[in-house]
Amino acid sequence: MRKKIIAGNWKMNKTPTEAKELISKLKDKCNTDKVDVLFVVPSIDVTTAAECLKGTKIKLGTQNFYFEEKGAYTGEISAKMILDAGAEYVIIGHSERRGIFKEDDAMINKKLIAAHKFGLKPILCCGESLELREKGTYKAFIEGQIKSAFESISKEQALNTVIAYEPIWAIGTGKTATSDEAEEVCKFVRETVKNLYDESVANEIRIQYGGSVNAGNAKELFGKEDIDGGLVGGASLKEEFINIVNY
Ligand code: 13P
Repeated sequence: MRKKIIAGNWKMNKTPTEAKELISKLKDKCNTDKVDVLFVVPSIDVTTAAECLKGTKIKLGTQNFYFEEKGAYTGEISAKMILDAGAEYVIIGHSERRGIFKEDDAMINKKLIAAHKFGLKPILCCGESLELREKGTYKAFIEGQIKSAFESISKEQALNTVIAYEPIWAIGTGKTATSDEAEEVCKFVRETVKNLYDESVANEIRIQYGGSVNAGNAKELFGKEDIDGGLVGGASLKEEFINIVNY
């Protein structure tokens, strides 16, 4: 049985002071071990968030890092810094990083390799644009994203990776994929993992859905066979996140 993993991606929202306030509103009612609960906060909030979450089961992640160990990379943060500050997960390949910050498949592969090398648990995002969805070529596109990201990743490392399927057309738009649409792709991603590794990895790896998840649709989405939880944007900044976690 795969344990569900429900992560709130705060994106570029909340100062450390505001993070403290939000966490104090959410933490008691999100403190469960029925599912893995994760707050994926801006890097500058990690230390404060880690302090606020002490004694709870809620885990912390960041939204980005750089693949080198250390050095002259102005503006970047390393895996070691993230771990030392108290987070253990990192999102890699979010469509906003791919689109706005021009991160390509090669960069995402380097980050996935580095996350495993330095001991961060990655959440690897994939997902198609509206154009590809309408063209009907979205599966081939997503297969390409997964194959490229997992190059040189061992079976053990693959098992320690979470994949998030986030169709770009459903992010921040209020237009959620139907649970059948989301399930279709999550199942396909699992199939792709099976082809890259084997059945046992495919059965164990956790695949989230992301894109306008809210308290009203979480139960139906997370009830699907191949959807192992969600990567939640906007609704993770509100008390609504409590209802998503306790779907
Ligand atoms: P929304 O839930 O705001 O659509 O964002 C989804 C997302 O991008 C999570 O990473």
